[in-house]
Amino acid sequence: MELLGKKIVLGITGGIAAYKAAELTRLLLKQGAEVQVVMTEAATHFVGPVTFQALSGKPVFTDQWDARMANNMAHIDLSREADLILVAPASADFLARVAQGQAGDLLTTLVLARDCPLLVAPAMNRQMWENPATQRNAATLAADGIAILGPGCGEQACGETGDGRMLEPAELLEEIIAFFQPKVLAGRKVLLTAGPTFEALDPVRGITNLSSGKMGYALARACRQAGAEVLLVSGPTGLPCPRGVVRVDVTAALEMHQAVLAKAAASDVFIGVAAVADYRPATPAERKIKKSAATMQVDLVKNPDILADVAALPKPPYCVGFAAESHDLPTYAEGKRVNKKLPLVVGNLITDGFGGDHNTVVLFDAAGAHPLPTASKAEVARAIVAAIAERLA
Ligand code: PMT
Repeated sequence: MELLGKKIVLGITGGIAAYKAAELTRLLLKQGAEVQVVMTEAATHFVGPVTFQALSGKPVFTDQWDARMANNMAHIDLSREADLILVAPASADFLARVAQGQAGDLLTTLVLARDCPLLVAPAMNRQMWENPATQRNAATLAADGIAILGPGCGEQACGETGDGRMLEPAELLEEIIAFFQPKVLAGRKVLLTAGPTFEALDPVRGITNLSSGKMGYALARACRQAGAEVLLVSGPTGLPCPRGVVRVDVTAALEMHQAVLAKAAASDVFIGVAAVADYRPATPAERKIKKSAATMQVDLVKNPDILADVAALPKPPYCVGFAAESHDLPTYAEGKRVNKKLPLVVGNLITDGFGGDHNTVVLFDAAGAHPLPTASKAEVARAIVAAIAERLA
């Protein structure tokens, strides 16, 4: 429920992508938002208002002369309670009319009379988008403080390929969730590690652990939503890269060490969420090991400590470590903080942290222990981001 209680006016203009606005409505509602749909006359040629009424549970407005508003002022009343207006899809014609301050129908009048932020998701043929007139209009809208989401690039309904596709509903949802987050890390560069590492024994086997990557990915997403430029160095996970985050995929601890140290000095914050293998097989077999012997010994050598090496740089970024412990969390987490010379460590029990969608963490800094309530990893990540931002300020 990342949009709980948010009131969103969803404007829909005439374009084939209007059908995707139905899925977007559903996604916004699923996150707890209240959605009021307003359609242009052209939009109703693509999808009927009944569809949106059924999905949103509210009457859909299409006409500025709609008599349902007691004072007949739909253009004022519909936006006054709204936290934002999102127009998706936004046609070339709509962008042009808003850029000129026109108010010839309900949606443009509503937009002109708004006292809340406006976000638009352009959707049109690539030539229409590239046309200098559309580009001029988009630049005017941006200069007026209107957020332009996309467009994306790809195959278009007309059969051509290029820029002009409306962002997918899930991408727009991410943008809306991010919009509501305070930009406490704006202008900061954040480097993170996430997931497990995999230390090869032979070409098909290895030593790894049960980290799913969820906590690290949630933190990368929360940092991005807080306005940071985010680089995520990820061990093997099946998770999709969070929107707006740059990801470098690695497998073993040595690769993770190399990828992190290449970027650490240029970062403002480093967060080590990965469950890095402490040891790796000394000499991985080049060929698949055969089960000829009844027992086998494997020599292990210690991996470099990525976090400790970053913290030991001449001008280290603000370093945050994680500690997953089976017992005595305060002792071990605080011990790691002191030994690795870190300002902040996030401690979690292995029963809470590994694999699931929720986590219970305690922050350890020089002032002591600060427990956070059990919450989803997305919420825990936001609380950690707030704690980092507070300490950076
Ligand atoms: O991925 P999930 O399933 O969501 O699970 C999340 C998590 C439990 C893996 C995560 O919340 C967590 O606690 N990660 C740290 C795991 C751990 O206990 O690490 P550690 O105690 O081995 O290392 C302490 C810190 O040093 C960590 O920040 C680790 O990233 C870092 N480290 C450790 C060893 C090493 N060679 N290099 C490192 O950078």
